[in-house]
Formats: sequence, C-alpha cells, structure tokens
Amino acid sequence: MSVNIDLSNKKGIVFGLANQRSIAWSISEKLMDAGATLAFTYLDERLLKSINGLLEGNDSLLLKCDANNESEVKEVMKKFHETHGDIDFIIHSIAFANREDLGGDFSNLSKQGFNLAMETSSYSLVTIAREASKYFSESGGSVISMTFDASTRVYPGYNVMGTAKAALENINRQLSAEFGPRQIRFNSISAGPLPSLSARSIPGFVQMRKAHEERSPIKRPITHEEVANTALFLISDLSSGITGSVIPVDGGYGIIAL
Ligand SMILES: NC(=O)c1ccc[n+]([C@@H]2O[C@H](COP(=O)([O-])OP(=O)(O)OC[C@H]3O[C@@H](n4cnc5c(N)ncnc54)[C@H](O)[C@@H]3O)[C@@H](O)[C@H]2O)c1
Repeated sequence: MSVNIDLSNKKGIVFGLANQRSIAWSISEKLMDAGATLAFTYLDERLLKSINGLLEGNDSLLLKCDANNESEVKEVMKKFHETHGDIDFIIHSIAFANREDLGGDFSNLSKQGFNLAMETSSYSLVTIAREASKYFSESGGSVISMTFDASTRVYPGYNVMGTAKAALENINRQLSAEFGPRQIRFNSISAGPLPSLSARSIPGFVQMRKAHEERSPIKRPITHEEVANTALFLISDLSSGITGSVIPVDGGYGIIAL
C-alpha cells in the first residue's frame, strides 16, 4: 500500500523489537518507508542475531535496554539525544509474563508473577515516558503503546496479561493528561491477535484467531500491516487532536456480543 504521509522530519525510538514477526518491526518498516529516523533497542544478546539480520544495511542506532532497568532507559534517551537531537516519538511494544501465569486458574497467580508482568508490561511505559520527556521536541510528540481487548474482557489464556493491559491503558490516560500541555500525546493500539514470539506463549491463541475470523464484522483476522498503518497515523501530525485513546485495530471484534 502506498503512503502519502511524510515523516522525514520525525525521529524516534522503538522498544520491543525481537524478530520479523514483532509488531514493533511492522510499525518500524512503515515509519521508515515514510522517511522517519529510528533508533532501536533490544532486550538481550539472544535477540541480537535476528535483529541484526533485520537491520542489515541500515545504520540505525541499536542499543541494549531492559525497560525494567531505569539506568539503561536513561542511557538510551541520552545516547539518542547525542546522536539525533530531540525525540519526536516513542513506540512501546513491550510485554512479558511468566508462562505459568498465562492460562490456568487466575487465583494461582503469585505475587512475584504479578509484579513481573506489571513491571515489564505496564510500569515500563512510565519509566520510558518520564525519561523521554526530558528530550522531547518543543513542538511535542507521540507515544504509542500496544494493548489488547483482555484489558476489559476475560480471555482464559491471557490471565495476568489482561491485568497488565488494564494498567497500561490507565497509564496511557494518566500520561496523556500530564504531558498534554506540552503536546506530547499518548495512545494505545488495541490489536487483534497476531502471530508473534510473545503470542506463542498464550494458551488458546489459535482459538482467539479463529474467533476473530468467525465473529468479527470483517470475518478475518487483522494483519500486522493494519496495525502499522494505524501507528503511522498516530505518529503523524494528522492525529494531533488525539491523545489518551485506546484505538482498536481488531476488525470490530470488540463490538460484537453474540
Ligand atoms: N501479538 C498479538 O496478538 C498482540 C495483540 C495485542 C497486543 N500485543 C502487544 O504488542 C506488544 C508486542 O508484542 P508482539 O506480539 O510483537 O511480540 P514480541 O515478542 O515480538 O514483542 C515483545 C517484546 O517485548 C520485549 N520485552 C520483554 N521484556 C522486556 C523488557 N524487560 N525490556 C525491554 N523489552 C522487553 C521483547 O524483547 C520483545 O521484543 C506487546 O505489548 C503485546 O502485548 C500483541
């Protein structure tokens, strides 16, 4: 699909790239096609091989960052600013929960498992927003996070991640209110189920895709590209009046009761 949105004056950082199936990668490709300058972060060395493969021939800044480590987040912002100047946008596409805390009885969730999922999948947006806000451009910016329908409805395989997404959406609203006066906008994209490394750990993921195909108004699962197109809009100035929103890219699945 050809795009007419020009982001050649925008620079930003992508958190959450693991491989070619990462939502972060679909968004990155779309933003780069539109002319944006990107820096990438990676969680640990195990992911470097696939990420280096994706970024071959691309001289983007690539920095290690565990989003639960505040000093690493600070360092990413500092390095980006030294290299590229002010930040215009951030993609937060991060989530993690222990496998045993997805599926099964919710009440078996341990405090440690709860804390880990919340810290990584929700609180990391607070850390990233706070540290990025020190370097955002004077004209403002756009921060996108990724959420899922399980924030408000129960999916048996999602358990603690549903709780984490509910917190993430609330954080998205709180940050929108705080940083709105500086024209820094925060929006969450609520994507339908897409195959990825993380999605593989969700019990019942295949049934979730099937349910979308059968019951969503568009009668098919959504695509990575449809999420990326929405991100492109949210990063661009076309969305300058939108902040604090949760935008469903779910083929309308969320509106159907029966
Ligand atoms: N795939 C789906 O069906 C779907 C649907 C809706 C929302 N989402 C959300 O989209 C986002 C991206 O997921 P994805 O499906 O592309 O899977 P993915 O596995 O490609 O991406 C998850 C990323 O989180 C990163 N991560 C985990 N812990 C981290 C930490 N401590 N610090 C920094 N990074 C860390 C991983 O390295 C990985 O790059 C997640 O927030 C996920 O919940 C996914």
